Amino acid sequence: MSSKAIEKISPLNQPLVEVKDLVMRFPLHKDWIRAVDKVSFHIDRGEVLSLVGESGSGKTTIGRLLLRILEPYRGTMSVANHDITHIRGKNLVSYRRMAQMIFQDPFASLNPVKTVESHLLFPVKKHRGGHIQQINAVVDELLTRVGLSPQETRRKYPHELSGGQRQRLAIARALAVEPAFLVADEPISMLDVSIRAGVLKLMNELKREFQLSFLYITHDLASARYFGDRIMVLYAGKVMESAMSRELVRNPWHPYTKLLLAATPGGYHVESLPEKVNEPPDLSESRRGCPFAPRCLYSTRECFDNMPETQEISPGHFIACYHPQIPSES
Ligand SMILES: Nc1ncnc2c1ncn2[C@@H]1O[C@H](COP(=O)(O)OP(=O)(O)OP(=O)(O)O)[C@@H](O)[C@H]1O
Ligand SMILES: [Mg+2]
Repeated sequence: MSSKAIEKISPLNQPLVEVKDLVMRFPLHKDWIRAVDKVSFHIDRGEVLSLVGESGSGKTTIGRLLLRILEPYRGTMSVANHDITHIRGKNLVSYRRMAQMIFQDPFASLNPVKTVESHLLFPVKKHRGGHIQQINAVVDELLTRVGLSPQETRRKYPHELSGGQRQRLAIARALAVEPAFLVADEPISMLDVSIRAGVLKLMNELKREFQLSFLYITHDLASARYFGDRIMVLYAGKVMESAMSRELVRNPWHPYTKLLLAATPGGYHVESLPEKVNEPPDLSESRRGCPFAPRCLYSTRECFDNMPETQEISPGHFIACYHPQIPSES
C-alpha cells in the first residue's frame, strides 16, 4: 500500500496501529509462560509510542508480534484498518512494506558480505522499480538522508563502517520501502554514548518529515521521553501505566513507574523508593492478581487476588492499580 493510500485511511493524528487484548505465551518446562498478557494500545499516524520496562517484561515480543514475526496466541492487531493478527503469504509480504523493524544490533541485522549499496539496491528496485539510474539516485538520496556520504560509503562493507553508520544504514534500508510504521527495538543501546543522540535525532527528523509512526522500545526513560510522544510502562507483560511522555515523567501514579523513575539517572525528581522484595516476576499462566504486587510497598490482599482494571486517572493518563500514589511535586 502506498503512503498516499495510508494517508487516506489513517489521517495524521488518527490511530494507525490498534492492538486489543494481545496475549503471547511461550512453552517453558512442560508449562507455559505469559510474556504478553492482554495488552491494548494504539499509535496514531505520525506518533511515537515509547515502550519501557525492565528486561523480560515483553517489549521485544510485542514488537515482533506487531511485525508478525510471531503469531499471537490471542487478541487482535490492525494497522491502517487492516487486520494483521493472522495474516500470511502475499498479504504478509505486502504488510512488511508498510511496517519495518530497526534492531538493537545493526551489525547482526546487516549482511557482512554485501556492500552498503547492495543493501539498498534490492529493496528500492523491488519496491519502486524504474531504470538503474533512477534506482541509483534513490539509493544516493536515502544514504544522504540518513547522514551517510554516498561517495564514501556505497562500496564499503558493514565492517568498514562505525556502529553509528551501520545503524544509519539499517534505518536507510527500512526507509527504502517507504513504510508508515517502524518498530525500533533499543536502536541506540549498543552504540557509543557519544553517537546515540545523533541517531535519535535522525529518527526524530524522519518521523516529522515522513509522518512515520514508531513503537520505540527502550530501557531508558530519558530517551523514551525525548523521542516518545507517549510512554507506556510494561511490567511482566502487563501495561501498568501510560500517558503523554512529559505527564508520565512528571506525574507518575503507579508505584512501579515511580520505582522505575527513581532508578533512572538523569534528575527525575521522584523520591527514591524502597521495595518489598526484588525478585523476578511470576510469568506462569496460573498466576493471579497484579504481577508487581510482591514487590509493591502498597499491595493488599486484593492486589494478589485480582488484576486491577485500567482507569483513566486524568485525561489521557491511564493506570492499572488499586492503590495509585499521588505524584510528588516535581
Ligand atoms: N522465543 C521465545 N521462546 C520462549 N520464551 C521467550 C521467547 N521470546 C521471549 N521469551 C520470554 O518472554 C519473556 C519476554 O521476553 P522479551 O524478549 O519480550 O522481553 P524484553 O522486555 O524485550 O527484555 P529485554 O529488555 O531484555 O530485551 C521473557 O521471559 C523471555 O524469556
Ligand atoms: Mg528486548
